[in-house]
Amino acid sequence: MTRPVNFAPGPSILAPSVLDGLAKAVLGLDEVGGLSILEISHRSKYFDGVLAETQQRLRALLGIPDTHAVLFLQGGARGQFAQLPLNFLRPGRRAAFVDTGVWARGALDEAKLVGDAYSLASSHDGGYRHLPDLDGVAPAPDTEYVHTTSNNTIYGTQWQTLPDFGAVHHVCDMSSDVLSRPVDVSRFGVIYAGAQKNAGPAGVTLVIADRRWIAEARTDIPTIWQYGIQDKKDSCYNTPPTFAIYAVMLVCRWLEEQGGLEAIARVNEQKAQAIYEVVDGSGGFYHPFVKEPSHRSRMNVCFELPDEARHTAFLAGAKEAGLDSLKGHRTAGGIRASIYNQMPLDGVMRLVDYMKAFQARA
Ligand SMILES: Cc1ncc(COP(=O)(O)O)c(C=O)c1O
Repeated sequence: MTRPVNFAPGPSILAPSVLDGLAKAVLGLDEVGGLSILEISHRSKYFDGVLAETQQRLRALLGIPDTHAVLFLQGGARGQFAQLPLNFLRPGRRAAFVDTGVWARGALDEAKLVGDAYSLASSHDGGYRHLPDLDGVAPAPDTEYVHTTSNNTIYGTQWQTLPDFGAVHHVCDMSSDVLSRPVDVSRFGVIYAGAQKNAGPAGVTLVIADRRWIAEARTDIPTIWQYGIQDKKDSCYNTPPTFAIYAVMLVCRWLEEQGGLEAIARVNEQKAQAIYEVVDGSGGFYHPFVKEPSHRSRMNVCFELPDEARHTAFLAGAKEAGLDSLKGHRTAGGIRASIYNQMPLDGVMRLVDYMKAFQARA
C-alpha cells in the first residue's frame, strides 16, 4: 500500500519509524515476555521505565528545568482550558488572554466559567490573519496569569518570539508547535499541548508546569484536576494513557535522531518557506491568509485560490496525487498544509510541485 502524504492538522502524520515501533509494541514487547503495550499495568516496572524515559527525553529536548514538572494528562488542550483556571484563578484575581483565534477564545470563554477573565489584546478584527500588536499593552495589576497561543492552527499565525509579561505568570497553549523549535521553558508558568500534532497520537496532553506556582494552586477543587496531585503521583493518580505516552517516547527518540529541536526547527523553516515561496511567487493566484512574513506559521501554511471551483479542483487533484487532508478549517475555508515535525521535506516538495503544476494548467 502506498501511503499518501498526510497534511492533516491533527491527529497528524507520524514518522515511519514511530509507526513501526508502535505496531511492534502493540503486538508484543520482548521486555515484558511478549505482552502488548496495551495490556500492561501503568504500575508495572516496565511502564515506570517508559514514563521515566519519556520525561527525561522531553526534559533533555526542551531543556526543562527541575523547577518544572512534566505531566501526562487527559482531556486534551480543552481540558487545560478548564484545569488552568480551576487551579489558579482565585476570587479577586484575573486571567488575561491574548485572543489570536478560535482556540485562544475557547480558553478565554472556559476561564470565564470559573472566574474573572478578560481579553488583553485581539486580532479578531483582522479575521485572525495577523497577530495582535502588544506594544504598550500590559496586564492589569490583579492579573494572575496571561494566556497565549504560540501557533494558531486554523489561520497559520505563529509567534516567532513569544511575548514577555514580566512578573505575571505566562501560560502558553503550544498544542500545534510544541517540540518544533527551542523555547525557554523557564519563562513559563505552564506550557500545555495536546500531543496529536507534533508529539504523538491523540489521548495524552503534555503539561509542563512550574512547581513553585503549583504549590500556590487551589486544593479545594476535585482531586483529579489538581496539578499538585498529578505531580506528586507522577501522572498516575488515575490510569494514564499508557499507549499514547509510549508513542510520545518513540517520537522523542525520533526527534533526537533528527538532531534535536534546533535541527528540526531548521527543517521546519525550510519546509514552510518552500510553500510560501510558491504562494508569494504566484502573482496572486495563491493568496496567503497571513501577509506579514514575521507572523507566518512554520506549522500550518494557509492560502486561498481565486474561486470556490478552483478550491474544489485543487483538493480533488491533490488527493489523486497522493496529497491528503489539505482542506482548510471549516470556519476559515481555503487550503491548509499542516507540516508538523514529522512531515518530511520531500512530502512538502511534492505539494510544491503540485501547486506549480496546478497553477500552470489553471
Ligand atoms: C492551538 C490549539 N489549541 C487547542 C486545540 C484543541 O485541542 P484538543 O482537541 O486536544 O482539546 C487545538 C486543536 O486543534 C489547537 O490547535
